[in-house]
Amino acid sequence: SVKMSTNIFWQDCPIGKLDRQKLLNQKGCVVWITGLSGSGKSTLACTLGRELHSRGKLSYILDGDNLRHGLNKDLGFKVEDRAENIRRVGEVAKLFSDAGLICIASLISPYRRDRESCRALLPDASFIEVFMNIPLEVCEARDAKGLYKLARAGKIKGFTGIDDPYEPPQNCEIQIELKDGVCPSPSDMAGQVVSYLEENGFLH
Ligand code: PPS
Repeated sequence: SVKMSTNIFWQDCPIGKLDRQKLLNQKGCVVWITGLSGSGKSTLACTLGRELHSRGKLSYILDGDNLRHGLNKDLGFKVEDRAENIRRVGEVAKLFSDAGLICIASLISPYRRDRESCRALLPDASFIEVFMNIPLEVCEARDAKGLYKLARAGKIKGFTGIDDPYEPPQNCEIQIELKDGVCPSPSDMAGQVVSYLEENGFLH
């Protein structure tokens, strides 16, 4: 049902990604954080954003929950709505990374196929998938928003992890996991991502 545009052209500009990256002294990329509700995606996104800022690196957070108040307010949580949600955020993330920014996308993004489509939009190696590998029991015990309780009571249908699927990544770049049964601290999580960005030349 998607209408394709006709008679459209691609406009090129003399100032490109490389020029902007030089100006900013960093490399544009997308840090895509995926995981269950309550797994710490937003906490990681914010801590990472703050850490990068303190190092003089420009980043921007695209948070699924927040974007659903504007850009994606017409979308629900059915498979095709989630797919369109991820597709739009992937396209926006691509623009931000082309602008030279470190774009931090934080969405449940439960379907592997949708995440892989986003990866395919981006230049090689500039899509960095971070998997919040935190067990459902831990996320549910936190239940910061009270949504798991509602889902268990049948008051929310199709809640990820309860009665809707979550497909973990098979080849993610970074994995956040429990250590001795304990969640890593926000600064530990952010440190893991910063190290990756450093080692792979994104921070110059
Ligand atoms: S998705 O699956 O990537 O399109 O979801 P996302 O855009 O990240 O939005 C997830 C937040 O929406 C709230 N919420 C739900 N999540 C999962 N399933 C259902 N049915 C649902 N209904 C509402 C929830 O607060 C999620 O926020 P986070 O930050 O993940 O806890």
